[in-house]
Amino acid sequence: MAERRLVAIYPGSFDPLTNGHLDLIVRGSRLVDRLIVAILRNTQKQALFSIPDRMDMVREAAGDLANIEVDSFEGLLIDYAAQRNANAILRGIRAISDYESELQMALLNRRMRPETETIFLMAREEYSFISSRMIKEIVTLGGDVSSFVPANVASRIRAKVN
Ligand code: PNS
Repeated sequence: MAERRLVAIYPGSFDPLTNGHLDLIVRGSRLVDRLIVAILRNTQKQALFSIPDRMDMVREAAGDLANIEVDSFEGLLIDYAAQRNANAILRGIRAISDYESELQMALLNRRMRPETETIFLMAREEYSFISSRMIKEIVTLGGDVSSFVPANVASRIRAKVN
């Protein structure tokens, strides 16, 4: 019988990478054969970091995991999944407030490409209140985010604001 490999895409904006994202990358990488962390190239959102910077930050923080790859994509996630021969999408859920939009996204994606399953992991409690959007707001207002993001991200943020 042919060996079945699980290739998952963990998509997101990652602007910036948080401790919650990193925890999901580590836990996801243990579950699947290959995990592709895919950063959305979205020109509409006001970005803190460029796409190459965001990719570097994920590589710096998670580069010791042998089965992960960092990439970027634009357009529909399911088209990217098809192009990468991925059979799963990985997403994290922090609180019930995430559930509604994640359910909608998973159902739309499933209708468009049934062969790609969405796998959800619950965020660890200690990270369940962290979001990139809030981190950006705190950074913009001069606050300290070093306990919410990996050390390499914190030092890049310091370099940016100083
Ligand atoms: O980190 P985010 O911003 O919550 O990630 C959202 C993301 C990138 C997963 C989502 O916006 C996405 O998949 N965008 C690509 C366009 C797409 O496929 N849209 C239809 C989803 S139903």
